[in-house]
Amino acid sequence: MDLIPSFSMETWVLLATSLVLLYLYGTYTHGLFKKLGIPGPTPLPFFGNVLSYHKHRVDFLQLMINSQNSKELDTHKALSDLELVAQSIIFIFAGYETTSSSLSFLMYFLATHPDVQQKLQEEIDATFPNKAPPTYDALVQMEYLDMVLNESLRLFPIAVRLERVCKKDVEINGVFIPKGTVVMVPTFALHKHPEFWPEPEEFRPERFSKENKDSINPYIYLPFGAGPRNCIGMRFALMNMKLALVRMLQNFSFKPCKETQIPLKLGNQGLLQPQKPIVLKVESRGGTVSGA
Ligand code: HEM
Repeated sequence: MDLIPSFSMETWVLLATSLVLLYLYGTYTHGLFKKLGIPGPTPLPFFGNVLSYHKHRVDFLQLMINSQNSKELDTHKALSDLELVAQSIIFIFAGYETTSSSLSFLMYFLATHPDVQQKLQEEIDATFPNKAPPTYDALVQMEYLDMVLNESLRLFPIAVRLERVCKKDVEINGVFIPKGTVVMVPTFALHKHPEFWPEPEEFRPERFSKENKDSINPYIYLPFGAGPRNCIGMRFALMNMKLALVRMLQNFSFKPCKETQIPLKLGNQGLLQPQKPIVLKVESRGGTVSGA
């Protein structure tokens, strides 16, 4: 059998042209193809240009890639390919379900507390008149939105407990903790402790008002953990949830219906989950929905 197939001359020319184009596609994704006006070519993970394509982006993936290339970093600080992929996967796991469940709990509270929902819609309408698209700066300024979100995360902290391993023998308040002990921090219980939260089961966003929030102990309220290993996605998650909430409440109101389980019962596995899916009625607020 011949090692080189016996194609016609035309086929060889076509094959060679395709290979050259493929090479250019991978190598000059942003330059040549953009100039040629070929729409949105995605950089290919071969012919070596994926890194230079991302050169100017400042996102987490890029920072991890930079750690591999930077000559300024010690080699032990650079992430291996496996670590890079592992970190990317953990972001998806740690970020997706946590954010969506927290939003679901929040919608449940709004549906069952129409006064809070209305007050929040008033703040949203005043901040973004005529359903204007939300901006980052305005979202950060919205006090009531922040209060409502914080109170929902108090009653339903997705990670019900935190864990740390003790690195050396230590005595705290007369309690000896040997090195290697796994210490559990009971977030859920702390968030409902009547000593810190009067009538802890009540949904009251005012607990987090400007006047009150300074008196909250950061080691009692821990929806995103604490210390150097707290949630790395906290700011992103808060902004993401605020944006989603504003967009939804600009256009819809949420109400309980006969399928809504009130009071909500919780499941007993891993992350905090409702026992049954949260079902709510959604009513349009009328008018046209402005562009996303
Ligand atoms: C409402 C949404 C979220 C909640 C309630 C939440 C909560 C938490 C909590 C309680 C921890 C443990 C912190 C500690 O032990 O002190 C944690 C860790 C972590 N979270 Fe989140 N998280 C959320 C969203 C996200 C998002 C969007 C991302 C990434 C994009 C993310 C990435 C991580 C990572 C990587 C860790 C481990 C940090 C480390 O061990 O150094 N989380 N999160």
